[in-house]
Amino acid sequence: MLVALPRFQMLRLLGVLLPTLVAGLNARSVISSCEAIENAVSSASEVYWPLSIEYAEDIEHWASSSTDLATCSVEPGTTDDLGTILQILGSNQTPFAVKGGGHATNPGFSSTTGVQIAMSRFSEVAYDATTQTVDVGAGLIWDDVYAALEPLGVNVVGGRVSGVGVAGFSLGGGYSWLTNQYGLTVDNIIAYQLVLPNGTAIVVDSSVPDLLFALKGGYNNFGIVTRFTFKAVPQGQVWGGLITFTENELDAVNAATANFAESVTDPKAQIITTYNFLLGEPGVSQLLFYNAPTPPDGIFDEFLDIPYFTKDISTRSFVSLVQASPSNITGGTRGVFNTVSILSYDANILTAVLNETVFWGSRLSLLDTAVFISYDVEPFMTTLFSKAPASSAAYPPSRAQGLLPLNIYFAWLLPTSDETMQQSAVLSAQQLTNAAVADGQDVADASLYGNYAIAGTPVERIFGDNLDQLTATKQKYDPSNVMGLAGGWKVPV
Ligand SMILES: Cc1cc2nc3c(=O)[nH]c(=O)nc-3n(C[C@H](O)[C@H](O)[C@H](O)COP(=O)(O)OP(=O)(O)OC[C@H]3O[C@@H](n4cnc5c(N)ncnc54)[C@H](O)[C@@H]3O)c2cc1C
Ligand SMILES: *[C@@H]1O[C@H](CO)[C@@H](O)[C@H](O)[C@H]1NC(C)=O
Ligand SMILES: *[C@@H]1O[C@H](CO)[C@@H](O)[C@H](O)[C@H]1NC(C)=O
Ligand SMILES: *[C@@H]1O[C@H](CO)[C@@H](O)[C@H](O)[C@H]1NC(C)=O
Repeated sequence: MLVALPRFQMLRLLGVLLPTLVAGLNARSVISSCEAIENAVSSASEVYWPLSIEYAEDIEHWASSSTDLATCSVEPGTTDDLGTILQILGSNQTPFAVKGGGHATNPGFSSTTGVQIAMSRFSEVAYDATTQTVDVGAGLIWDDVYAALEPLGVNVVGGRVSGVGVAGFSLGGGYSWLTNQYGLTVDNIIAYQLVLPNGTAIVVDSSVPDLLFALKGGYNNFGIVTRFTFKAVPQGQVWGGLITFTENELDAVNAATANFAESVTDPKAQIITTYNFLLGEPGVSQLLFYNAPTPPDGIFDEFLDIPYFTKDISTRSFVSLVQASPSNITGGTRGVFNTVSILSYDANILTAVLNETVFWGSRLSLLDTAVFISYDVEPFMTTLFSKAPASSAAYPPSRAQGLLPLNIYFAWLLPTSDETMQQSAVLSAQQLTNAAVADGQDVADASLYGNYAIAGTPVERIFGDNLDQLTATKQKYDPSNVMGLAGGWKVPV
């Protein structure tokens, strides 16, 4: 199996292997936990060891810098087995990780040198026409969910590009093409099947209000989710896709984006303007979306009038639109995300974003030839948080005003550049925050979206005033902090 991995992943595996061998003492107790799990679970679940195909799939991540060499991996197939696994890991105090779609860019959030739990066997998609809900297994990616629902004429509020996992996305908030119409993904979850840290499986719905609140943004702090129950929404064909623009057109793209952000009030219309820097030049990947087969005249004309480099816009299925942009353009490179919350994407902010793109693109490509950097401008309507009650979810901590996320993404090849890339992503977010403040936007302390925020961001910045309530819920359901053995955004016990 190892020969099938790209060469740079092989090198990375070697780099991880040596320290793992050195930490041999620790590893022996992890091996004991792997063996205990192997002996305890039913035939619906399985433990895998290094060098097997399944192990390689279980530890793989979208960003290679998020892949760790686990001691073993396990694919639980039932909630009972998952409960048994958590009991063994808890009583042995064995480090572990939980992986849904493996798109976390922060190292160690869904990877470990301990026991890798991969949720892939939880893979149902079941639409209930009576309750207008959809049950979705925690091991799926959104592409699979959309494809299964398409013939039924319904959809759920999920991811915007190909390959992203349902679980981590939904447990953190969830910004969707459907968000202007229906809110965040957390605003559209009715129930969870949850394996508690003590191994007991429960259904979390409105009869368990503290956990329902906590799971809407609180990640893996309260146990492991095996199934989400989403509200179903009607879905027909949509319009849109990807246009790319080169350097000469960037002033026109900035103007079109600022005009869209400041004037469009149709909740079915949405865009992502991605500024990137590739092969020495800035450019833009422009995603357009309209939730109907044909958009009304006017909304997208300014974008469509700009001379383009490539253009793939059509009336299509929702899943086809989601797959229109290559999510793996960089193919397994190392990566980091960071974020800024913006109140308004006006011309001043977009000028600052373009300046950051050119500044960091030129500077970082001197360090590592494989550098790709991008800034996603996501001009949602400022009413995006108004689709759910004020205190219904752990994230966002306040719904008093809409916060529009900006996603910074740097990709590179060499592990020796890790620190510089991380530090640069911090500096760039700070620069853009300063630019927004100078523009009169009160965002110096605005809450940040955890699925975009860089490791090291204080959890107070994600959960705000909700942190005390989350800590109380954590003390009630995970007093011995079993879930603290797994990485991620951690609520203090
Ligand atoms: C290409 C790309 C596009 C993206 N687009 C969007 C977007 O449009 N909108 C948006 O909001 N975000 C987007 N994101 C961010 C995305 O929400 C996060 O990367 C998210 O973590 C992905 O979920 P996952 O299941 O793939 O992650 P994973 O890496 O598998 O998990 C992330 C976190 O969730 C925890 N977790 C996973 N499964 C479970 C479970 N069953 N129970 C408990 N905890 C669990 C993990 O332990 C980890 O801490 C995008 C990311 C990428 C890389
Ligand atoms: C990207 O994903 C597509 C579709 O899943 C796949 O065919 C292609 O080989 C991938 N490219 C890279 C560079 O990994
Ligand atoms: C461009 O960005 C760099 C790096 O953040 C910053 O030092 C510089 O002041 C910016 N220039 C302008 C004109 O904003
Ligand atoms: C696990 O915790 C839940 C919630 O605190 C409790 O109801 C349940 O009885 C516990 N199960 C066991 C086996 O202790």
